Amino acid sequence: MSASVNAVETLGLTKHFGSFVAVDRVDFYIPRGEIFGLLGPNGAGKTTTIRMLCGLLKPSEGRATVLGHDVAREPEEIKRRIGYMSQKFALYNDLTALENIRFYAEVYGVARAERAERVADLIAMAGLEDHAGVLTRSLSGAWRQRLALACAIVHRPPMLFLDEATAGVDPVSRREFWDLIYSMAAEGTSVLATTHYMDEAEYCNTIGMMYQGQLIAVASPDTLKDKLPGMLLQIDCDQPAAAERLVDGLPGVIDAAVHGVWLHAMVRDAGVIASVRNAITGGGYPVRSIEETLPSLEDVFITMVAQRRGAEAAPDAGTGD
Ligand SMILES: Nc1ncnc2c1ncn2[C@@H]1O[C@H](COP(=O)(O)OP(=O)(O)O)[C@@H](O)[C@H]1O
Ligand SMILES: [Mg+2]
Repeated sequence: MSASVNAVETLGLTKHFGSFVAVDRVDFYIPRGEIFGLLGPNGAGKTTTIRMLCGLLKPSEGRATVLGHDVAREPEEIKRRIGYMSQKFALYNDLTALENIRFYAEVYGVARAERAERVADLIAMAGLEDHAGVLTRSLSGAWRQRLALACAIVHRPPMLFLDEATAGVDPVSRREFWDLIYSMAAEGTSVLATTHYMDEAEYCNTIGMMYQGQLIAVASPDTLKDKLPGMLLQIDCDQPAAAERLVDGLPGVIDAAVHGVWLHAMVRDAGVIASVRNAITGGGYPVRSIEETLPSLEDVFITMVAQRRGAEAAPDAGTGD
């Protein structure tokens, strides 16, 4: 075991299923005590990456260490030291919340002398005091998810993997859940989390954007936003979905996408605004305003994927216009 400062390190980490490449030469690291967010659409390879890091799936190529242990050679060492919470985390419906935590304390080998105090701490941390005696089957989704987190960390793992741990949970509960994760990280726990929710990415020190098995960008949320090419326009017009089709593909428009009641367009520079306005009004849709706006991580992701697709479609393109 090395005295690596990083909780996770991967080098060319790859997983094939037959001829299909689910994870494609992924390189990243997570310093101890940091939260790394893996973002990407369904099928991007996030869960497969996590399963390799948890020692549940052998890499096809490349290597990775978790807490200094090699995932291929020492999976058992890793399993004992990590917490892993997926959407399918197994809670026992016929046990109360308290009994579930006690059960996992036993499974994870928490010393008998420490169990009572540990369980009480977790009940308090998860805010489950009023639900401790409730049968798990009667708990709402948000409470079940807090309970699952308490169970997943009952052995105080220094490394926590969260795979869509907040899927299907309402925004307020998701925020509270992340406050818990945040305080754990502040006390030194390292976290790798996958999510579909872009707002959750803001809680992460570092974001990895995954697409078709590859990590297409790794950076802090702010850096990712700064790296966006050009400027982002927020367009208030009639029928934004129809306007999107008019704007997409115009010279200087990198990408356009409906964003709530607006159309968002990433453009090369301010010189493109006039042609965007003309295209929409020319199509018969009145434009009320076009303003520059700050990108969200969702905008970043959409733009990066669009650039990627553009590069794939025109691999031999020169420096462009
Ligand atoms: N055991 C498996 N056998 C074959 N294909 C798989 C297997 N597990 C995952 N895949 C495929 O690998 C790709 C990545 O899956 P996954 O890692 O679950 O993505 P994500 O978690 O980002 O949604 C998907 O196309 C999925 O169908
Ligand atoms: Mg997944």
